Amino acid sequence: MSDSFAQRLLDWYDRHGRKALPWHHDRNAYRVWVSEIMLQQTQVATVIPYYEAFMARFPSVHALAEAPVDDVLGHWSGLGYYARARNLQKAAQQVVTEFGGDFPADQAQLESLPGIGRSTAAAILAQAFQQRATILDGNVKRVLARHHAVDGWPGQTRVLNQLWDHAESHTPTERVRDYTQAIMDLGAMVCTRSRPGCDTCPLSSSCAAYAADEATRYPGSKPK
Ligand code: ADE
Repeated sequence: MSDSFAQRLLDWYDRHGRKALPWHHDRNAYRVWVSEIMLQQTQVATVIPYYEAFMARFPSVHALAEAPVDDVLGHWSGLGYYARARNLQKAAQQVVTEFGGDFPADQAQLESLPGIGRSTAAAILAQAFQQRATILDGNVKRVLARHHAVDGWPGQTRVLNQLWDHAESHTPTERVRDYTQAIMDLGAMVCTRSRPGCDTCPLSSSCAAYAADEATRYPGSKPK
């Protein structure tokens, strides 16, 4: 592995990462996709029981596509952001009608589905299809903004593009599934928003924010 950023992260993941989350078994595109949509605005611990109930009721993309919409919304109640649940069912219906019930293993085709943006498409490609693809969710933005001391608010296109460039440059060609989980886990477990655990971080030796003792300055907040 050429980039030691990825290697250090994978070594950390092997020892400390999360490996027994419900969407880690029977891993297929449908199961990964539902988990990613639930996790977009909701924490892992909250998602787990909803995910288990959802999968028991809608075990396949066909089951979800055919279900009464109220049943889908009922299984979402408590997670909030109901547009996510409506988009989820619309996307399931498109997967059935446009792709014969199989999720496409293609970034642009995944992004054509409602509710699936660049990072979610990449998460599906990496985790379900083991393709080299780059994610950039909230946790990953924080890790990279600190590591590279990227100034500014990630809501700005210029800042976001810098973060995507860094994210792309670190994505390994091997073990991309574990790498994807690893960088999300590091952001959730170590490189946390207000009290980052730099003492135990595998990336601290190359982290620009840590070197300046300014981890919590990044990422920048929204200008007023
Ligand atoms: N947030 C988004 N996707 C996630 C995943 N696979 N594991 C943990 N947190 C996540």
